[in-house]
Amino acid sequence: ASTLGASAAQTGRYYGAAIAAGRLGDSTYTRILTTEFNSVTAENEMKWDATEPSQGRFTYTNGDRILNQGIAMGAKVRGHALLWHQQQPGWAQSLSGTALRNAAINHVTQVATHYRGKIHTWDVVNEAFADGGSGARRDSNLQRTGNDWIEAAFRAARTADPAAKLCYNDYNTDGINAKSTGIYNMVRDFKARGVPIDCVGLQSHLGTSLDSTYQANIQRFADLGVDVQITELDVQQGGNQANIYGAVTRACLAVARCTGITVWGIRDTDSWRNDNPLLFDGSGNKKAAYTSVLNAL
Ligand code: XIL
Repeated sequence: ASTLGASAAQTGRYYGAAIAAGRLGDSTYTRILTTEFNSVTAENEMKWDATEPSQGRFTYTNGDRILNQGIAMGAKVRGHALLWHQQQPGWAQSLSGTALRNAAINHVTQVATHYRGKIHTWDVVNEAFADGGSGARRDSNLQRTGNDWIEAAFRAARTADPAAKLCYNDYNTDGINAKSTGIYNMVRDFKARGVPIDCVGLQSHLGTSLDSTYQANIQRFADLGVDVQITELDVQQGGNQANIYGAVTRACLAVARCTGITVWGIRDTDSWRNDNPLLFDGSGNKKAAYTSVLNAL
């Protein structure tokens, strides 16, 4: 096939992009989006600060724009992200204890209920593990409400939208390391105790090399009985960008339970990074990295 989405679909997978509601009026952007991709993720519009700017007052205008763009394209819509220590509204940042726990679970319930039946996969909890060698949870206001906050969030999400796949999503999980092992142990425990979790998202914000255990790490999560999705892929330009994009693609395709890949933006000028990490240049031209991905799919 001649596009990323159609090629991924040949093996039952999706190829998606994070998109921004404010860019949908850009015709080059929207042309590439609708031609190449069969999944979308809201880059910011479904986060806590965007959807509940004051407590109990929910605003879905921009999130719905992303959803409706995805529906219009016939694309899968990934929901990102119900709970995260970043991009919390100010009111949540100043809560703690039972008040924060209740507000967080209510947030999960309300947002997942609003989008019930429309979201292919939710990132229920994002970035809850610490960097470095501890393998432990990250300290955050949410973590300080009790270690069971993650499973409480997954249970609330399942109740609110039983059809959505529920993912735990994190970064610096690009190989077998202390952080990914901490997550692995949590997922294994959740599966053993019947906590509803369906998938793990590996963000894959990458630099100039790819960890030699990238595929083995995907495989070990799959072997726990969860799907794996590459959720926020971008790769620093100036190293082996095209090769790394190709290797990530091949690693996902080598694991049956690796069900899709999302790049975190469309053109280099749309990226949150400043190192030209995407598949299309600022003019919307396909880069060598694009060809590498297409050939690998
Ligand atoms: C980033 C967005 O791309 C930026 O526009 C925003 O200013 C900050 O967040 N991990 C995640 C994403 O899970 O939500 C982040 O997105 C990038 C890192």
